[in-house]
Amino acid sequence: MQAKTIACAAGLSALIAGQASALEPDKINWAAVPKSQITLFYPGQSTQEWILSAAHKAGATGVREGKNCLKCHADEEADIGKTIVSGKKLEPNPIAGKPGSIKVTVQAAYDKENFYLKASWPTNLKEAGVFHNYKGFKDGKWVTYGDNRTNKDVKAGKAKASYEDRFNFMLGDNKGSVANFESQGCWVTCHNSLRDTPNEPKKEAVEAHPVLGKDGMKKSDIRKYLPETRTAIDDAGGWDKLKDKAALDALMGKGAFLDLWQARAYRSIPVGKADDSYVFQYRNFDKGKKPFDSNWDGEKKQPKFMFDPDKNNGATALTAAQFRDPKAPKLDNTNSVPYDQAKVKDGDILPGFILNTKTDGSANDLNASGTWANGVWTMYVWRKLDTQQKDDVALAAGQTYPMGMAVHDDNVTTRFHYVSLPLKLSLGKKDGQINAVEIK
Ligand code: HEC
Repeated sequence: MQAKTIACAAGLSALIAGQASALEPDKINWAAVPKSQITLFYPGQSTQEWILSAAHKAGATGVREGKNCLKCHADEEADIGKTIVSGKKLEPNPIAGKPGSIKVTVQAAYDKENFYLKASWPTNLKEAGVFHNYKGFKDGKWVTYGDNRTNKDVKAGKAKASYEDRFNFMLGDNKGSVANFESQGCWVTCHNSLRDTPNEPKKEAVEAHPVLGKDGMKKSDIRKYLPETRTAIDDAGGWDKLKDKAALDALMGKGAFLDLWQARAYRSIPVGKADDSYVFQYRNFDKGKKPFDSNWDGEKKQPKFMFDPDKNNGATALTAAQFRDPKAPKLDNTNSVPYDQAKVKDGDILPGFILNTKTDGSANDLNASGTWANGVWTMYVWRKLDTQQKDDVALAAGQTYPMGMAVHDDNVTTRFHYVSLPLKLSLGKKDGQINAVEIK
């Protein structure tokens, strides 16, 4: 099968962003950089609240005493994933045929100014997940045409499975600013109120929350957050018990947040970027113009933008024949016009997201590219060691950082991913599972 280079724009956008000093990562001699093979497993609903509950038996006591998950579970990742993905435990909605774990090969390098990460893994599907969600116009209204595997319309057979593949990397600072991240890894961010977890609050309850809801951050669901941003944790993970603004500002000021990098095969790599976010009181996007925005007007129940016919062979939308065609155009700021109902016909398909070729601010820090060939993804993520941004964790030579990793494979979203146990990343040392080496 032919290799498909997804991020032809990467070099260009790195130059535009004034980062000409960074090497293009495919020019690095990766053969000289040590490889780490990490097993990522399917975690189901093993939230932090579950990890600390009686159901985790001796594990809960160990975790409370500060024991690292690896102390008890090293080399058990594949077995744990197999148990959970089968639906025997911690998974009320198993996905038929899904493997319980995958192996990701990771390499890391740095020079005087920049940090480079390379990750590769075999995909379950025999095609790249370079498609995301789509709406289709049917019988006079816009309905789900393609979405993730656990979407209700996809499960009911009314829409097709389609969702981007992702490589995700979560990083803490080397001062232990986020409590328990070093011993519990990504589980500090994962709670019983997140999307697709046991005590997920109703949309109306989130929208009525004075800070998170309509009068504040305008959220309608709960995503990753840190327990120290809450006054108390309960069965629902304390999602609604936010500390006041002064307390949150003080925490953020002392660096109690996690940097979250997501190389997204549809929504960021085509514009040469990874989604640069951070986990604090919510899973927040870094400040600035990010690589993608929603293309859905929830009030009017219609897309916000359509293709500019002058730039899309006379068509304002995609056709069914272009669905899952890697050559089909992606909607972005350069080839789109505002939505016009008069131009819509039955069978039209439009992407649920619109890409931005001009990212800026802290959302512009993180570069990414990716190639899928012969059933294997290879993704690169790179940025300045120290971006000087308050919503990024700075890296420095000679230091070691706590981290975790995840991969979304096979048209899934939210918790239906593969995750690592808590890991460490070193720069120029050998005390991590991933040890970045210096390149000149
Ligand atoms: C002190 C040892 C210990 C520590 C530390 C520990 N666990 Fe466990 N864990 C266990 C034991 C024992 C079980 C099996 C419980 C049972 O028999 O049902 C288990 C079960 C699990 C399971 C369910 C899957 C299965 O095969 O039963 C998951 C998921 C899990 N642990 C995740 C974690 C994570 C994540 C951490 C770190 C945040 C962690 N554990 C820390 C001992 C530990």
